[in-house]
Amino acid sequence: MKIFIDTANLDEIRKANEWGVIDGVTTNPSLVAKEQRDFKELVREIVSIVDGPISVEVISTDSEGMVEEALDMSNWSENIVVKIPMISEGLKAVKILNKKGVKTNVTLVFSVNQALLAAKAGATYVSPFIGRLDDIGHDGMQIIHDLVQIYKLYDFKTEIIVASIRHPLHVIESAKTGAHVATIPFGVIEKMFKHPLTDIGLEKFLKDWQKVVE
Ligand code: G3P
Repeated sequence: MKIFIDTANLDEIRKANEWGVIDGVTTNPSLVAKEQRDFKELVREIVSIVDGPISVEVISTDSEGMVEEALDMSNWSENIVVKIPMISEGLKAVKILNKKGVKTNVTLVFSVNQALLAAKAGATYVSPFIGRLDDIGHDGMQIIHDLVQIYKLYDFKTEIIVASIRHPLHVIESAKTGAHVATIPFGVIEKMFKHPLTDIGLEKFLKDWQKVVE
């Protein structure tokens, strides 16, 4: 399973990239707004740090506007993947962009049917938001299980990005489903490192080694 980092924060992206654990980046308008930077400049910096797919989202809600924005963004770097919202105008845009060779990530997906339509339209990636489903009492991960099965059954090339991940257990569950990608916030990646027995064990090794030195 590939790991993308779900942030537009350059420090977080730099750190996670230095750890050698990330294969790409996903952003959204809310994450970009937090950074208070010029959008294009920010994306250019992200592209210069991470060698992998970088998802950036359109803000138009009509297909013409989405295509125009997407064509502009896709010129910023060959690694740009354009995030398109899961609405009917969005699917129209995905079909057009697919023909033009622009990679897309259909976002704000909350059901298996939505993801099925996104794949039919030719999306490169689809992003079901599992945490937001869990928040309203639905089992977000069930959608990922169903999708992995359906995409495999019909040989869809669309890759599943498990999005809206809230904690390390979501990551383990994602990996168990066979999803292609998990996009993970920085704080959750940090938690994935941690185990108290690692810290206790390292402290003891170093303490014992002191006896050898003395
Ligand atoms: O970037 C899309 C998605 O991962 C957003 O997550 O935490 O805002 O539900 P969240």
